[in-house]
Amino acid sequence: MDGNGRWAKERGLPRAEGHRAGADSVREVMDACKELGVKYLTLYAFSSENWNRPEAEIEALMALLDRFLDEKAEELDKQNVRLQAIGQIDRLPASTRERLTRIQEHTKGNDSMTLVLALSYGAREEITAAARSIAEAAIAGTISPEEITPELFARHLYTADIPDPDLLIRTSGEMRISNFLLWQISYSEIVIVKKMWPDFRQGDLFAAVEEYKRRHRRFGAL
Ligand code: IPE
Ligand code: MG
Repeated sequence: MDGNGRWAKERGLPRAEGHRAGADSVREVMDACKELGVKYLTLYAFSSENWNRPEAEIEALMALLDRFLDEKAEELDKQNVRLQAIGQIDRLPASTRERLTRIQEHTKGNDSMTLVLALSYGAREEITAAARSIAEAAIAGTISPEEITPELFARHLYTADIPDPDLLIRTSGEMRISNFLLWQISYSEIVIVKKMWPDFRQGDLFAAVEEYKRRHRRFGAL
């Protein structure tokens, strides 16, 4: 979800207004995915690098996140959606962590769709943490180096029980990955959309899925 700041700047508004408008796109895209029968929707909401932004902007983002969680908690459950957060969750403010824990616990049995929020998320941090936990297991003698396969490695990532994404959509026209799910997107189809995230709505999601359907996925084979 990229381009909130530029969207606001184009309109002479503070960046926080862009994030607020972006939250409306989140609501629309969630509903659209639900309608399409998407089983997993992952939103890159806050990266490890976003901690380097001014404190006021971080606070505005966390306040929006808290509001989103308060507003959606019941609706997610009613829609049979499971919430899962990935990232360095312990770095988030206590108020946000408390909400995430409560809603994840409350929705863990839901199975129509999983909404994955990538928060304080960085793929390099995730991969490093996985390597560390495997190394610890090796030292403890519960794993031997020959047993370390891609499948085992994947089970040590935050996404252990989440399938790899079929489609990755990035808005605002930027042609880069920005530390997002580096391991998991090995064979994802990528769609780059020029629109800024606050302008990305239901119709744009449907169009991206249509584009995905035209792709021929070969996974390196013929
Ligand atoms: C994406 O919009 C939202 C978050 C990172 C939370 P940006 O804030 O990155 O917007 P630009 O890239 O400055 O336009
Ligand atoms: Mg950006």
